[in-house]
Amino acid sequence: MKALHICILTSVILAGIVSCTTSKSTTSTTNSNANSSTTTSATEPKKAAITQEDADNISKKMSLTTVADLNNGGTIYNAECGVCHGLKKPNARSEDEWKAIVPNMVQKANAKAGKIQITPGQEQLILKYLVVMCNK
Ligand code: HEC
Repeated sequence: MKALHICILTSVILAGIVSCTTSKSTTSTTNSNANSSTTTSATEPKKAAITQEDADNISKKMSLTTVADLNNGGTIYNAECGVCHGLKKPNARSEDEWKAIVPNMVQKANAKAGKIQITPGQEQLILKYLVVMCNK
């Protein structure tokens, strides 16, 4: 009788340990998922907004420019400048470098399309956008 008791007791304890371990590991998986998603949203980069001051500075440096022009330049940049390679970070090049690179790239874009893919006006907007953003 004693041996049977011990046997039942042991299996109850074992079952308890197994179920406990299983539920613990499930809980910790859920926790780590929740943590990682929180971390991702917390480290999302902030976009530096274009201000009226930026537009005024570019107007003095280059030609009359509005905030809407600069935002438009950003839209064109995002649409046209990541076609052949990844979008470059505006602050990866200096103002003077962009002034040399943009016309060169517009030529490439137009040659690839076999037509005027980026107009001279759009080229100016891209360049103005990059000159603002590379200094931000
Ligand atoms: C038709 C394809 C194509 C398009 C569209 C294009 N690029 Fe490029 N880009 C290239 C190639 C090829 C290279 C590498 C060869 C070189 O540097 O000339 C390059 C290189 C670059 C580099 C590194 C070169 C350096 O001198 O530092 C930058 C920066 C760049 N592109 C920016 C742009 C921007 C801004 C636009 C939009 C106006 C653009 N690209 C659109 C093909 C393209």
